[in-house]
Amino acid sequence: MTALLDLIKARIAQSGPLTVAEYMELALAHPEHGYYMHRDPLGQEGDFTTSPEISQIFGELLGAWTAAYWQMSGGGDLAIVELGPGRGTLMRDLLRATAHVPGFHDSLLVLLVETSPQLKRMQRALLMGKHSRIAWLPDLEHLPEVRTVFLANEFFDALPIRQYVKTPEGLKERLVGLDDQGELCFTLQEMGIKLVKGGHHYGDKEIVESSPYARTVATRMAAHLRAHGGAGLVIDYGYTGGSHANTLQAVRKHAFFPVLKDPGTADLTAHVDFDMLAQVFREARLDVQGPVAQGDFLMALGAQIRAEALIERARPEQREAIASGLHRLTAPNEMGELFKVLGVCDDHALALAGF
Ligand SMILES: C[S@@+](CC[C@H](N)C(=O)[O-])C[C@H]1O[C@@H](n2cnc3c(N)ncnc32)[C@H](O)[C@@H]1O
Repeated sequence: MTALLDLIKARIAQSGPLTVAEYMELALAHPEHGYYMHRDPLGQEGDFTTSPEISQIFGELLGAWTAAYWQMSGGGDLAIVELGPGRGTLMRDLLRATAHVPGFHDSLLVLLVETSPQLKRMQRALLMGKHSRIAWLPDLEHLPEVRTVFLANEFFDALPIRQYVKTPEGLKERLVGLDDQGELCFTLQEMGIKLVKGGHHYGDKEIVESSPYARTVATRMAAHLRAHGGAGLVIDYGYTGGSHANTLQAVRKHAFFPVLKDPGTADLTAHVDFDMLAQVFREARLDVQGPVAQGDFLMALGAQIRAEALIERARPEQREAIASGLHRLTAPNEMGELFKVLGVCDDHALALAGF
């Protein structure tokens, strides 16, 4: 049994069941035992692999996107704020790919928002010497007052969600409690909200999700873009049209893992509500583009051409890896369709690349 499991059980025994969000927060970010605190979860040896780790093309194209935005919007000072930068691979590839754009790096301030001390160390090591102005921010409350491009790849899925179930007795919140044996289990708590349809009590057991945390982050991004200008890309797996199912999942060693088993040893995520993000941005009078499928977005930015150029210069034994990396990022049955890209910009007249 893990120390975190003991701690969670003791907390529930003392104060009652946790919301799913509270459970996620403890499992992922408990300062001592949280999943993200002491490990590198990425890559073949870890628990999951992300787009920048699959192919350099991903970070390079986001670099091209950012430089194109900077040029189209008239140049000048720009902060790039990456949320949840993992190992720092995306930023390394972005900076390398844009080094030749005249004046771009001189205008840049590179800011990383990272919760994991271990990943922060890896980012520092990887990005050392790659740009003269790189800094880490504890959160979005400390953004400099400068035009900003936000980049968030697989960041929002790591933010805690709350879950509700429509039952014939009314709406209930799904909580994490203890069963008769003292093990973690899901329970339902009355919310005093009756659901009525056609004059009858209604409840189809559907699970509805919401993420107040994601909303808070999006609201902060929106306020910053409204006040100082800029743009952003949110790239993640997620849905439009509302959540209709349980999307909470745990992953360990590249396979699904029971959500309540050994908290702190598996990654916990939920699908991202793109409609909510779009709504928050629109309410701030920002222009929203997409979401579009990641495959379409990357192809529109020239992923195929970039891969062919890399293959032409690669050693024979590297060619297959480049082609398969492109395939994983863009094919509809790989990450091409499940992953979506949402663009946001303060300037309604500007057509962001890739949409
Ligand atoms: C799934 S990883 C994605 C990493 C990277 N973007 C990539 O594509 O390889 C999630 C990242 O978000 C970070 N993270 C999770 N919750 C966070 C939070 N509340 N604030 C800042 N970073 C967070 C993790 O430590 C990790 O770097």
